[in-house]
Amino acid sequence: MARKIAFINYKGGVGKTSLLVNIASSLAQMGHRVLICDFDTQSNASIWLLKLDRWNKINSAGDGMIYSIFNPGDVTVKDILLKDVVLSKAGEALLPGLDLVPTTFNLVDLENEYTGDPARPHYVIFRDQLAEVEDNYDYILFDCPPNILRASQCGIFSANEIYVPANPDALSLIGFTLLVEKLGKFHQLSASFRNAAQGVAARVQGIIFNSIKSGVDIDVPRMRMQLRLNQFRSAKRAAPAAKLFQQIVRDAMVVRRAVTLGLPVNLVKASTAGTEEETVVDDYRKVAMELVRHGDRVND
Ligand SMILES: Nc1ncnc2c1ncn2[C@@H]1O[C@H](COP(=O)(O)OP(=O)(O)OP(=O)(O)O)[C@@H](O)[C@H]1O
Ligand SMILES: [Mg+2]
Repeated sequence: MARKIAFINYKGGVGKTSLLVNIASSLAQMGHRVLICDFDTQSNASIWLLKLDRWNKINSAGDGMIYSIFNPGDVTVKDILLKDVVLSKAGEALLPGLDLVPTTFNLVDLENEYTGDPARPHYVIFRDQLAEVEDNYDYILFDCPPNILRASQCGIFSANEIYVPANPDALSLIGFTLLVEKLGKFHQLSASFRNAAQGVAARVQGIIFNSIKSGVDIDVPRMRMQLRLNQFRSAKRAAPAAKLFQQIVRDAMVVRRAVTLGLPVNLVKASTAGTEEETVVDDYRKVAMELVRHGDRVND
């Protein structure tokens, strides 16, 4: 059964998208079958993996893309899903096993114009369509914006696990706190729509520190985050096994460069051995391995 995982923090810019894309890529390199669902209307993950030219084409087509899945009788998730999404200039698959449900800018209409049917909310429509493809995957990862509005709700409702990317600062801690509050409210609101196959609603399973600059001591931010996590665990508002990841991801220029190149970091050629490129690739790989191992504890 696929592990369905949302990456979210109420704080923007902490590295949700870059962690998700690079962890997904590490998992695919380990041989896992991975699907990324982009639920951020900024389309960052989609533009990154498709590169601007390819993404522009689907964005300007508009109809038939992700917003259309919410119109009954139009397209469904399996129609818009792109297999082996990372391609070379010549069009060959560079990372077989990494697929994408891409987003286009009109997903924003889900927040404004969409009226839908209260008896069948948008997140139920998405869950039912995802069910048609999920057996093809080991991991399904949802990239969410820093809120729990409708687009995010689709990912969160389908997910079984939540991971919170964070920077070592007070705002990330506030973002995490706010997330747990809003998550509780959304789970209450959507409880009657859950089905038996979904299991329990997704709880926070882990916090991952990202963008750590060299020479910066993160002991105090780690301690503060751990304390907050312990409080939420005691109050049963986070999973019993929820943990602060041992592995952190360092700050490295190549992460920003990878976006411009349209490649996950592990496909960017290191200029020389032992450089920050190699170090940060190793960080992502170790975070991905920690995520794989945590799978044994999710149902504790
Ligand atoms: N480890 C890192 N080293 C260097 N730069 C990083 C690192 N992680 C993320 N960044 C950069 O920080 C910026 C924000 O990252 P990202 O887009 O992943 O955050 P986000 O949480 O998804 O943002 P949003 O809330 O807008 O969705 C990007 O420019 C990204 O390239
Ligand atoms: Mg993002």
